[in-house]
Amino acid sequence: MKIASIGSGNMGGTLGRRWAALGHHVMFGTRDPHSEKIKRLLQDTGAHAQAGTIKEAAAFGEVILLAVLPDDVERVLAEAGDLEGKILINCTNRYDGASADAEVRRLARNARVVRAFHTLPWEVLANPHYEGGRATAFISGDDPAAVAVVAQLAAEIGLDPVDVGGQDAMAKVEMAIGTIWGALAPKFGREYSLSVLRR
Ligand SMILES: NC(=O)c1ccc[n+]([C@@H]2O[C@H](COP(=O)([O-])OP(=O)(O)OC[C@H]3O[C@@H](n4cnc5c(N)ncnc54)[C@H](OP(=O)(O)O)[C@@H]3O)[C@@H](O)[C@H]2O)c1
Repeated sequence: MKIASIGSGNMGGTLGRRWAALGHHVMFGTRDPHSEKIKRLLQDTGAHAQAGTIKEAAAFGEVILLAVLPDDVERVLAEAGDLEGKILINCTNRYDGASADAEVRRLARNARVVRAFHTLPWEVLANPHYEGGRATAFISGDDPAAVAVVAQLAAEIGLDPVDVGGQDAMAKVEMAIGTIWGALAPKFGREYSLSVLRR
């Protein structure tokens, strides 16, 4: 699958590397495709990765991961242009009380937006395996086929995808996870994770 990552930092760099290692074709959309940072990332990522501008990456990807800081979301989506038919994974978080989900749905022109990976620290995305099982990736979106594609991409890197339903259900999950995260992080740091057991 052709996957673009707009953002090449903790989230974009980690997920891009993992998908490329599985044989997906990855393009990092970045402000400077020729920077030393991007050269190092491409060296680490291997033959299945390349870098381009944000517009080039948006045109390249069948699936596009949006992995920039909240203040850059509006600008990069404007630069990406029309995303008709593309699956846009929104892993961005805002910390000012506004909804990153609502913002991206409003700004992403014609994309099939799927909310995913935002409940997991990048350290867990780098390695989601625990002795007791796999870390859960909570996913939501209005387009079942797009959600299924993202669930598959999550499962391929070792996560346990759980489709929580629509955006209202996800807002509740985000609030609950934020509370649990805040309570347990002082004890377990960034390497712990939550798993949904079900039958
Ligand atoms: N870190 C986590 O564990 C974590 C977990 C869940 C959710 N998130 C969310 O994921 C998003 C990305 O977080 P991160 O930790 O990956 O951030 P990061 O490491 O700072 O990376 C952000 C990337 O955005 C790009 N960028 C920065 N300024 C930009 C600009 N003005 N225009 C275009 N691109 C710009 C940069 O790529 P270039 O320099 O190549 O342009 C950079 O690599 C955030 O919304 C965060 O809330 C993070």
